[in-house]
Amino acid sequence: MPIVPTHAPSLRLARRAAALQPSATLAMVGRVRKLQAQGVEILNLTAGEPDFTPPPVVEESGIQAIRQGKGRYTAAAGTPELRAAAAQWIQAEVGLPYSPDEVVVTPGAKLAISQALLALVDPGERVVIPIPSWNSYVEMVRLCEGEPVLVPCGPDGYPQVEALEAASQDGAVALLLNTPCNPTGAVYPESLLREIGAWALEREIWVISDEIYAALTYDGTRHVSPLRAAPGLREQGVWIGGVSKAYSMTGWRIGFLAAPRPLATAVADIQSQLVSSPNGISQVAALEAIRQGGADRERMRQSFERRARLVVAALKAIPGLECPVPRGAFYAFPRLRNFLGKTDPATGRTIRSGDDFVEVLLEADRVATVGGSAFGDPQAFRLSFAASEDTLHEALRRLAARLQALR
Ligand SMILES: Cc1ncc(COP(=O)(O)O)c(C=O)c1O
Repeated sequence: MPIVPTHAPSLRLARRAAALQPSATLAMVGRVRKLQAQGVEILNLTAGEPDFTPPPVVEESGIQAIRQGKGRYTAAAGTPELRAAAAQWIQAEVGLPYSPDEVVVTPGAKLAISQALLALVDPGERVVIPIPSWNSYVEMVRLCEGEPVLVPCGPDGYPQVEALEAASQDGAVALLLNTPCNPTGAVYPESLLREIGAWALEREIWVISDEIYAALTYDGTRHVSPLRAAPGLREQGVWIGGVSKAYSMTGWRIGFLAAPRPLATAVADIQSQLVSSPNGISQVAALEAIRQGGADRERMRQSFERRARLVVAALKAIPGLECPVPRGAFYAFPRLRNFLGKTDPATGRTIRSGDDFVEVLLEADRVATVGGSAFGDPQAFRLSFAASEDTLHEALRRLAARLQALR
């Protein structure tokens, strides 16, 4: 006889789920999609993904991979071919030597970072995060029951070693670095990285280096891997990269993690229990991307470079708006310090934060951006230039007019 419960169990979530903040960026993307489905035309500057298609060789190899039956589980850490090719690619891209068994192919860089944290952080341990930062880091650390320690960067978007030191007084197990940075576009200079690296080595703090935007730098700015800037840091570092942004393969979900062997093995073991393996078809396509996608990648980078110039020129022309020049990635992160407390005549709303301005811009101008509080700076907002030049021109025209109309 089936057992019929006499009362419904009270629905209770674990603390880690109940406390989780959903991604503000994805929430905004969802709102934009909803408005668009209702027929509202939105100039969308929320996207964290390129508006290009992947290189044709990538698409073709994906189709072939399906036909050849590659849609099966692979080894947990990725196919031997892709791990070997990724090791060579990492050496060529950033000059860091890894053997294939020190590389783990992951379902996106995002999971590479989460799994690195799972492997390194015990409950209650601190992870230092310079802010503004990508909104997912804090929640990823919390999901591991670690404690995020936020360190504000200067107006240039760089953290100072003294601030990192002050924040780590009570101990820290890891420092999360992201250069080129989402959301500021800051690309850390080598001299700063050398200082940070020497400090991390002395303090025996792991450096988790998220370099997903490594290939996207502009106007001669050179990306330097933090793990390369200080001798010995490779042994105390986790390198994170992938194909999502630079090869326009966001939905294919392939990232790479490289680390000293014991850590790489631990991450592969975690991955074997959490996801079994990355997508087999996407692994074939990612192999083509890193082997043959270079020319297409450069074409897309040049496009982003033109857009970066366009965005910087338009933002600079708005009196009172502060914005560090993005040297990499595809975002600008203007600060509204000089506009706070003013009121928008069209909507009657007073702008007290970047989040307020984002709401006004969406409501009154149909321009979608993301508020800065999710990135750790409530006075700012993020706009993505992964959009066509026409869209950017018009969106920036409306944005400038809105700011100038505030009273
Ligand atoms: C800084 C940063 N790291 C990692 C990722 C995630 O990359 P992937 O799509 O490969 O998981 C993103 C995506 O927005 C990002 O901005």
